[in-house]
Amino acid sequence: MTLIDGNAIAQEVLAEVKQRAAALAAGTGAGDGDAAGVVPHAVFVRVGDDPASVSYVAKKQRVAAECGMRSTLVLFPENVSRDELLARLDALNADPAVHGILVQAPLPRHLDETEVFNRISPAKDVDGFTSLNVGRLVQEQPGAFAPCTPAGIVELLRRSGVVTAGKRVVVVGRSLIVGKPAALLLLARGADATVTVCHSRTADLGAVTREADILVAAIGKPRLITADMVKEGAVVIDVGINRVPDPSRKSGHRLVGDVDFDAVAPKCSFITPVPGGVGPMTVAMLMRNTVAAAERAVGVFGA
Ligand code: GUN
Repeated sequence: MTLIDGNAIAQEVLAEVKQRAAALAAGTGAGDGDAAGVVPHAVFVRVGDDPASVSYVAKKQRVAAECGMRSTLVLFPENVSRDELLARLDALNADPAVHGILVQAPLPRHLDETEVFNRISPAKDVDGFTSLNVGRLVQEQPGAFAPCTPAGIVELLRRSGVVTAGKRVVVVGRSLIVGKPAALLLLARGADATVTVCHSRTADLGAVTREADILVAAIGKPRLITADMVKEGAVVIDVGINRVPDPSRKSGHRLVGDVDFDAVAPKCSFITPVPGGVGPMTVAMLMRNTVAAAERAVGVFGA
């Protein structure tokens, strides 16, 4: 069994991003060389104080700074009106000094997440959640911003030497953020997997997951995937980040994935840990999308 080190692979991606950001800042972007001194700039929009969102956005800001990129946090109270939020997105869309915009999910219930995501200019949609970028992904258009978590999964597999072509992939979860785009990316030409998507209403989930050469667990239920649901030698990618009570910890909780790691790991050829697997890759791919958005904004060839 090989443990996939998401932190180490994320560092490889971030080193590449840092170089591209430095080239942009120096006006020597990787392409035609006429880009003049632009620092990639991401704006993170957070509504309310959900503790997980606070911690994710802080991490994204920290990593952006480490890559030599600028970031701004736009903070709204939990009860912000739809009109006020959309008006701010319009202003950010129109601001040429902003290259990437991310609205942290989940949003409070009175806001329509789809409407809010769709208000972001597709050119600045570094999350890849707008209808246009989702459509581009379905059409396999080069240059679509792929959602960061699924793009990170594909990158983890590629850089770990896991072949996906012709393999049976089972994705558990059908969210816009992970399940659906993960299925699309692994199905696309180049990845060439045979993909099945399962969800909370799937009958006999274990019978389906046992068929998987590569199992992607993205349901958000602690340790749902047990050893009997995994084929011997499978590759298991655990996307879950679940807080469970743990009185032995000072914080009173700890993070576990959607996979019962201790029981499942001995059966696997490769497995990602939680934390330290998919999580760091999500942030790294967000940085990669942001530097690409900045390159395109200044016309760097090939971005
Ligand atoms: N919430 C959980 N994951 C994500 C993500 O990748 N992007 C955004 N915007 N919100 C999230």
